[in-house]
Amino acid sequence: MLSHAVSRFIDRQRWLDPLADVLQKVTTAVYRGRLGRSVKSLFNGTWLGHPLHPVLTDIPLGAWTLAIIFDLIYLFGQRSPMARSGAEILIAVGIVAALGAAVTGYTDWGDTVDRERRIGLSHGLLNLIATLLYVISLVLRLTSPGQGIGIVLSWIGYALLITAAYLGGELVFNIGTGVNHHAWQPPPTDWTPAMRASDLVDGKPEMAECNGTPVYLLKRGNVINAISNTCSHAGGPLHEGTIEDNIVVCPWHASRFDLRTGAVRGGPATVSQVRYDARITEGRVEVRRSPASLQPN
Ligand code: FES
Repeated sequence: MLSHAVSRFIDRQRWLDPLADVLQKVTTAVYRGRLGRSVKSLFNGTWLGHPLHPVLTDIPLGAWTLAIIFDLIYLFGQRSPMARSGAEILIAVGIVAALGAAVTGYTDWGDTVDRERRIGLSHGLLNLIATLLYVISLVLRLTSPGQGIGIVLSWIGYALLITAAYLGGELVFNIGTGVNHHAWQPPPTDWTPAMRASDLVDGKPEMAECNGTPVYLLKRGNVINAISNTCSHAGGPLHEGTIEDNIVVCPWHASRFDLRTGAVRGGPATVSQVRYDARITEGRVEVRRSPASLQPN
C-alpha cells in the first residue's frame, strides 16, 4: 500500500531527527513564558475550538489550483493578459496564506514525537520548497517578458504541494495528530459508579474507569470536579498533571483545562474536556456526562 511505502521511506530518513531536534528547541524557546504560551495557543487555534492550521492550508491549495487553470487559459487561449494577471494574483494570495499555514503548522508540529515528527517535518519541508518555488515563479512572472519558466516552476511547486498535502493527511488520518483524543470514548450519560468514595482523598486527583472511559476526579471539600481524563490534544493523562487553582495542566504539553467546566484555557489543545456531574451515593462516587458539557462527543 502507498501509505505503508511512504511511511517506511520516511522512517528511514533518520537525518531528519537532528534537524527536528533543533527546530523543536526553537519552538520551545520562542513560546516560553506566559506571553509565549498565549501566542502559541493563538496559532494552535485554541480560541477557535479547532486547529487553525488546516483552515489556512485550504487557501494556498485553492488559490494555486485556480492559478493552474488560469495558466492553461493563458497558454491555450491567445495569451490573454487577464489570465496572466489572474494567475499572478492567485499565486500572491497563496504565498501570503502559505506563510500563515507555515507558522501555525510549525507551532503544531513542535509538540509531535517520533514518526509523526518525521512525517510532519517532511510535510513542512516539502511545503517550504513549494512556497519558495511559487515566490520565484511570481518574481519571474512579474519581471520577465516570457511566462515559461515561471509557469514551469509553479507547476513543480504544485506537485510538491500535493505530495505534502498527502503527508498531512497521513498525519491526521493514519496517525491521529491533531484529532480530538477522546472522541471515541463514550461518556456515561446515566449515573455510573466510578470509585469508592472513601478512596477519593481530598485534594488528590484520581483517574476512574467508567464503562471503559477514563474520568478525572478531584474532591475539594464538598465539591467533586469531574472531567474526562484523556487530554483532547494527544491523549495525555490529566490525573498526572498539576493543579493551579481551578486549572489542571496536562503533563505532556501543558494544555490547561478548567476543572469546573472542562473548558480549554490554554493550548495546544483546541477541544474542551467532557464535563461530568458527580455525586456520592451509598459510599460510591457516581458520574454522568453533564448536559452543560462543552465537549462535542
Ligand atoms: S496531550 Fe498534549 S497537552 Fe495534553
